[in-house]
Amino acid sequence: MRAAVLREIPGALEIEDVGIDKPGPHEVLVRTVGAGVCHSDLHYLTGAYTTPLPTVMGHESAGVVEAVGPDVSYVRPGDHVITCLSVFCGECEYCLSGRMALCAHEDTMRGLDAPPRLHQNGELVHQYADLSSFAEQMLVHEHAVVKVTPDMPLDRAALIGCAVTTGLGAVFNTARVEPGAVVAVIGCGGVGLSTVQGAAIAGAGRIIAVDIVAAKLELAETFGATDTIDAGKVDPVEMVRELTGGGVHYSFDAIGLKQTARQAFEMLRPAGTATLVGMIALGTDIELPGVDFLSEKVVRGSCMGSNRFRIDMPRIVDFYLSGRLNLDDLIADRIPLDGVNEAMDALTRGESTRSVIMFD
Ligand SMILES: NC(=O)c1ccc[n+]([C@@H]2O[C@H](COP(=O)([O-])OP(=O)(O)OC[C@H]3O[C@@H](n4cnc5c(N)ncnc54)[C@H](O)[C@@H]3O)[C@@H](O)[C@H]2O)c1
Ligand SMILES: [Zn+2]
Ligand SMILES: [Zn+2]
Repeated sequence: MRAAVLREIPGALEIEDVGIDKPGPHEVLVRTVGAGVCHSDLHYLTGAYTTPLPTVMGHESAGVVEAVGPDVSYVRPGDHVITCLSVFCGECEYCLSGRMALCAHEDTMRGLDAPPRLHQNGELVHQYADLSSFAEQMLVHEHAVVKVTPDMPLDRAALIGCAVTTGLGAVFNTARVEPGAVVAVIGCGGVGLSTVQGAAIAGAGRIIAVDIVAAKLELAETFGATDTIDAGKVDPVEMVRELTGGGVHYSFDAIGLKQTARQAFEMLRPAGTATLVGMIALGTDIELPGVDFLSEKVVRGSCMGSNRFRIDMPRIVDFYLSGRLNLDDLIADRIPLDGVNEAMDALTRGESTRSVIMFD
């Protein structure tokens, strides 16, 4: 099968032929229909994060089940599924306490003594995030998929595999924004725009979107932002304080820079919560004004929207199908697999929301 392989960090993706094994116990072979290009993949190409190489990248996808291995009863060939990197074991402390996104899920991977899921010339090719979506097929644990109705278009379903679940989940599950609350979202890419939409669905009273690209701010308004701030022109912290008379109840950093994480904290009103969604580069420390903890401000992380994806994703599909969630305008373009490096470049420039790789 054709797949986008990362061979060095920093580096670009190369389209190569990669072998894929047959499904073993509890495994599912999925024909990939759509795969979104998320900034998290880009972090590995730039070296902000590292992973064992060579690796087939990609983690935001949807497709159709082609075959199942022994002991799989949840899905059958022909089922439509969204994949999720929050593969759950169902047995650990995190799974059993409902925090499945934090599961270490070692039992859901193949052991080193077993034949690898992905290979090339007899050598192991690593599977990124237990998924490797930038490929015509994916061989995954059954706990990495959720069934969805065939009414759901699979190109838009792919985005639910990461960005949309991350953004909506950060609002619903991590921060638990209540109706009427005042919210700010820094960064209006695929994740930030989903956070804006999540805040709108949650009934936030005011939603302030921050970015440095005018087109992103315009899009944020159509997604539910009540106010926008161009952080390239004004200081977003001062502006948020001015607009809100003292700060927001909830802020979200959907970028992952040292400076934007701090801005998220500084734009809070007393007792407000800053949720850091963006992936902050390895080795980067965040500095916060210590005195602010006297006013009970909270800063916390969020992993994949603190999801329980087999519950959350079908609900998100329903939001889309009932017209309450806009996924159509989240997709900037649909591209072939060999357009993936250009999509990464567009993401680097901040031009694109989401590019979705479509497989024939
Ligand atoms: N926590 C998680 O589980 C999780 C899941 C998915 C993605 N992420 C991370 O979320 C972040 C966002 O992902 P994405 O795919 O939406 O990225 P993206 O590149 O599409 O969006 C980033 C946005 O930030 C804007 N921006 C850049 N610098 C800015 C600045 N200084 N001030 C204001 N705006 C600025 C860009 O114009 C762009 O619109 C990434 O770090 C990604 O790795 C985290
Ligand atoms: Zn992602
Ligand atoms: Zn677990």
